[in-house]
Amino acid sequence: MEIKNVHEITININDQPYTIGVQAHHTLLDVLRDQLDITGPKECCGVGECGACTVLLDGQAVNACLILAVEVDGSEIITIEGLGGSVHLSPLQQAFIDAGAVQCGFCTPGMIMAAQYLLNTYPEPTKEEVRVALSGNLCRCTGYDRIIDAVLSVSRQQKERVK
Ligand code: FES
Ligand code: FES
Repeated sequence: MEIKNVHEITININDQPYTIGVQAHHTLLDVLRDQLDITGPKECCGVGECGACTVLLDGQAVNACLILAVEVDGSEIITIEGLGGSVHLSPLQQAFIDAGAVQCGFCTPGMIMAAQYLLNTYPEPTKEEVRVALSGNLCRCTGYDRIIDAVLSVSRQQKERVK
């Protein structure tokens, strides 16, 4: 039986190539979580308000809940799983733990991806610039200060390393 509205796309996610059939109305977040079992990006608002679903799409931080999967054919996607895992944490993941910036953890993957984008594009932000850069990512637990401290500490570490 022909399944209508299924489109084949080829994408690279966390350095792994995938060729998959996706429904025309499914978002990138639907495909990551429900089809590929890549559950780091979280679904919270589903309408681009909270940032819990943030991933890097061809190097840009985007809300995966706002992008149709058919739109990302040929793209490269990095999710929190692509930054590091339980064996080898990325500098930002470690800094979030060290700063006490993870409480319930629901916002954390999206927050870290948004912070990674900031540091990739603007390695030495001020406190205010970190605040602005993360303003699309909501956290109901931490009060944000520890998150900002974590991002600034990685920025400082990077600066030390290039000296
Ligand atoms: S779930 Fe995508 S922005 Fe909230
Ligand atoms: S740590 Fe709970 S929402 Fe941010």
